[in-house]
Amino acid sequence: MDTIGVLTSGGDAPGMNAAIRAVVRQAISKGKKVKGIKRGYEGLLQSEIIDMDARTVADIIQKGGTILQTARCPEFRTIEGQEKAAKICREHGIDGIVVIGGDGSFAGAKCLADQGINTIGIPGTIDLDIACTEYTIGFDTAINTAMEAIDKVRDTSYSHERVSIIEVMGRNAGYIALWCGIANGAEDILLPETYDYDEQKLINNIIEKRKKGKTHHIIINAEGIGHSTSMAKRIEAATGVETRATILGYMQRGGSPTCTDRVHASMMGAYAVDLLCNGKSNRVVGYKGDEYVDFDITEALAMKKDIPEYQCQISKALALL
Ligand code: F6P
Repeated sequence: MDTIGVLTSGGDAPGMNAAIRAVVRQAISKGKKVKGIKRGYEGLLQSEIIDMDARTVADIIQKGGTILQTARCPEFRTIEGQEKAAKICREHGIDGIVVIGGDGSFAGAKCLADQGINTIGIPGTIDLDIACTEYTIGFDTAINTAMEAIDKVRDTSYSHERVSIIEVMGRNAGYIALWCGIANGAEDILLPETYDYDEQKLINNIIEKRKKGKTHHIIINAEGIGHSTSMAKRIEAATGVETRATILGYMQRGGSPTCTDRVHASMMGAYAVDLLCNGKSNRVVGYKGDEYVDFDITEALAMKKDIPEYQCQISKALALL
């Protein structure tokens, strides 16, 4: 292993820069060369490849987004695209690639490994929806950003005695919604994993809480359920209580990474380089039981992750008034 490539793929996540920095510096400390691949697999197919050294990654650990930029790439899903990508890696002398992204990016890494390029995946997504790991880079920053925004919506919800439906990201997973729901003391938390689409229950809960003296009501709705604006209209019509929807959107993906994200990203980046240097390929880095671990990509992609039941129960118990 002489030259290691690094790319970010899929949705950006705070902490990706810290991971890039760790890959570059750990590789250099082990005597390897590093090439940065711009705009994910799309950039790889266009040969957008730059030399990186320790200075290239100075002053980025605190920055949101990804200095390498990111993209989604339909061409890379084809076998011709994968063959072309592997050929480009060889032309640039890249023996191994660290891919920072989510499940879709890992599926791409597996295809590259099948073409003979050593690959290691690092979980980078705000959604926390990667089954082989208890932590994904970006989650902590995203929930803190969302939590602060929800606190602000709560101020206006209280002042106007309204119901507020706040929609958070997470694709088909409810982790961001669950964590924010608990951290923001929401009256209702709607998770794709558990929601039964019975709006009448929500309506009854709002009416019941009003009777008990609760003058505002926060509902955290996960993106996987969505439709917050139409939900707000129906709830207002059924309860007679002013109801507003706020969709937090991409603000949750931006901003300077928290300490937790910077540390996990740094550790995972270095760990990925260690794996490549030890001759490993086709692996995904994870964090489990306070340790950094790795799994075969195919096995990692087949794993399932449940929303924690006890956390769900407690979130409901604490919302009682
Ligand atoms: O995976 C991160 C995420 O922000 C999800 O929460 C969301 O569903 C998706 O990316 C949005 O993707 P795009 O950037 O393509 O709109």
